[in-house]
Amino acid sequence: MTDYQAMQAELVGDINAAPDLDALEALRIAALGKTGSVSALLKTLGSLSPDERQTVGPRIHGLREAVSDAIAGRKAALEAAALEARLATERLDMSLPADDAPKGSVHPVSQVMDELAEIFADMGFAVATGPEIEDDWHNFTALNIPETHPARAMHDTFYFPDANADGQKMLLRTHTSPVQIRAMMTQEPPIRIIAPGRVYRSDSDATHTPMFHQVEGLVIDRGIHMGHLKWTLETFLKAYFERDDIVLRLRPSYFPFTEPSAEVDVGYKQEKGRRIVGGHGDDEGHAWMELLGSGMVNRRVIANCGLDPDEWQGFAFGVGVDRLAMLKYGMDDLRAFFDGDLRWLAH
Ligand code: PHE
Repeated sequence: MTDYQAMQAELVGDINAAPDLDALEALRIAALGKTGSVSALLKTLGSLSPDERQTVGPRIHGLREAVSDAIAGRKAALEAAALEARLATERLDMSLPADDAPKGSVHPVSQVMDELAEIFADMGFAVATGPEIEDDWHNFTALNIPETHPARAMHDTFYFPDANADGQKMLLRTHTSPVQIRAMMTQEPPIRIIAPGRVYRSDSDATHTPMFHQVEGLVIDRGIHMGHLKWTLETFLKAYFERDDIVLRLRPSYFPFTEPSAEVDVGYKQEKGRRIVGGHGDDEGHAWMELLGSGMVNRRVIANCGLDPDEWQGFAFGVGVDRLAMLKYGMDDLRAFFDGDLRWLAH
């Protein structure tokens, strides 16, 4: 007859000496698994006489219980030790000096937005904001882009599946121009605002990311003309690039919400792999980089906001902030801006 006492002592000894959870699991299978040693003993019970079963049965069951208790105990102990070890390695010494620790910094895009707000504040512009989740009317219709207008196709719009309470389609704003509408509807002219913020278009390559940043500018007053627009942009870009030899090119363009419209390019040259702003884009070694869209606010937009277009005129512009940052900091892939790579950000 098997010496259950000796068998139990040996099994429990092995279990308590198991160095890790894997070894423990191997022991469990060897004893209590389908073909394990203790399981094999349990199977013999069926072939015993009722008398034998009465004496042997409780001893085998007792053995099985002792082994599974030992396994549970060892398992808990090993897990506690593993946790202790992990806590020890993940320990943070709060008294260490912070000198070498990674520091937070202002993202280049935020830096540029701050700079722009400062430059425009000097010219008497206030900062306005609007929601990034817009309705169809503010983003398109009020800006003279009705449902069937082909200009809607120029904006690869992210729409939400559900309309709002007024039955309006909701979307991620494709530009900051809806803030023009919100400003004209809530403020008495004269109005002088810039509206920095995020905008969204379903578009992605080296110079386009699905989320990017614009700064909208809007001036509404009496007797405003293109000359005011050109002076404002020139003054702003000279301040931003910190140089006086900036040359701008205004190209006739089309936006439904401005008439006439102009796209504005800035002259630059390539120097040591960097784009240096300045000089005439048509000169030897120079080129033009498109920076912004602009124009005189369309009379229909002014009327859509409840103002009299015979009394009030204005100009508007929309600048790509990320592009401005690329130019100033000499970076050529827009996507790196939003990768969140700490080394890039620190650089
Ligand atoms: N909203 C236009 C765009 O995103 C830019 C723009 C703004 C053009 C204001 C004219 C006036 O492309």
